[in-house]
Amino acid sequence: MSMDIKEIAEQYGTPLYVYDFDYIEERYNSLKDAFAGKKSLINYAVKANSNLSVIAHLAKLGAGADCVSIGEVKRALSAGVSKYQIIFSGVGKRDDEIKAALEYDILLINLESEAEMKRVEMVAKALGKEARISIRVNPNIDPQTHPYISTGLHENKFGVEIEMAKRMYIYAKKSEFLNPVGIHFHIGSQLTKLEPIAEACGIVADLVRSLKAIDIDIKFFDVGGGIGVVYDDEKTISPQAYTDAIFQATKGLDVTILCEPGRYMVANAGVFLTKVLYEKVNEDKRFVIVDGAMNDLIRPSLYNAYHRIEAVAKEGEKTPADVVGPVCESGDFFGKNVPLPALEHNDLIAVHSAGAYGFTMSSNYNTRPKPAEVAIQGDKVKLIRKRETYEDQVRLELECMEESAK
Ligand code: LLP
Repeated sequence: MSMDIKEIAEQYGTPLYVYDFDYIEERYNSLKDAFAGKKSLINYAVKANSNLSVIAHLAKLGAGADCVSIGEVKRALSAGVSKYQIIFSGVGKRDDEIKAALEYDILLINLESEAEMKRVEMVAKALGKEARISIRVNPNIDPQTHPYISTGLHENKFGVEIEMAKRMYIYAKKSEFLNPVGIHFHIGSQLTKLEPIAEACGIVADLVRSLKAIDIDIKFFDVGGGIGVVYDDEKTISPQAYTDAIFQATKGLDVTILCEPGRYMVANAGVFLTKVLYEKVNEDKRFVIVDGAMNDLIRPSLYNAYHRIEAVAKEGEKTPADVVGPVCESGDFFGKNVPLPALEHNDLIAVHSAGAYGFTMSSNYNTRPKPAEVAIQGDKVKLIRKRETYEDQVRLELECMEESAK
């Protein structure tokens, strides 16, 4: 993808997100192939990159969507994902979101607490509908990843314990307005070890077996997302090893396997492009100040996450530099001690593996407009989100200010 990167940056300006759609297709197919011969549905986790064109691209390949707000459900629907391939997860759904999800008639609402189950039942009753539900079980497994993105331990806010899940299934089975057809878990993100996933699958599959014994028939076995990717030199899980572990654990169960990969699909498909504004040296420390900032890509600031950084088409002896943005915070950096050649104004910097949790976590901090997004597919380059303007940013405030000044 590096071939036209400079031209693309010239044409669309910086800061800019660029996604390789062919790579996304390869990733989707690699996982789908690993599920060959089994009933499965890949529900792309929209939160990783919710650009409509990205979702539409995956929908065309056959992907469903895993959504965590009604906004994401709406994105999935308008990008062409079939309603029966959409699931709605998250610990805190509002009544209006539950109502909309029931009216859209999506595949499943994932429940994360008993209180939420009662809420969903109430809303379904008011609509005279039956809600297809799945319960998120917390298997109490340490996924061995960053604590901020680990979710499968009892100390986390996600899901319910096995015994509680059982009680909820029994309640739901009796309810006129709930139809318990799914089971769900998600133990964390950027998982690079197979064992915790295999273990969680085993625990949850055993629960499915014990539910079957009391006549509760689970049809959808949702293993969540979390497959890790290479940012630096991580050893990752192969799609086949992943699905083999799932097949092994669910042996003998007649279920459709759902999974919710986000990062796996898009992280390495994306590059964030930013231009050098200035170089500066404080004492002995070299800083490269660029036109992108933490508001555009917050992962380094928030998680101290590593993203490989390179100067595009620039040779020369490399010395370490901190690559920092214009935002007035010391935490505004993309990389520390990055080996870079001498740079000049307007030289292009590529921040790699930025396709997941990049744009979706961006903000307008410092009244900085959100960057544009571009897709490369075959030999075509297309704009998939325009650069935000100042007017876009103040639109919802301006009228209010003028109104209140009257
Ligand atoms: N399903 C559920 C229920 C989730 O909570 C998540 C991610 C996924 C699927 C997708 O996980 P993935 O396949 O992308 O690992 N902002 C953080 C990541 C937060 C992930 C939250 N949940 C980051 O930038 O690393």
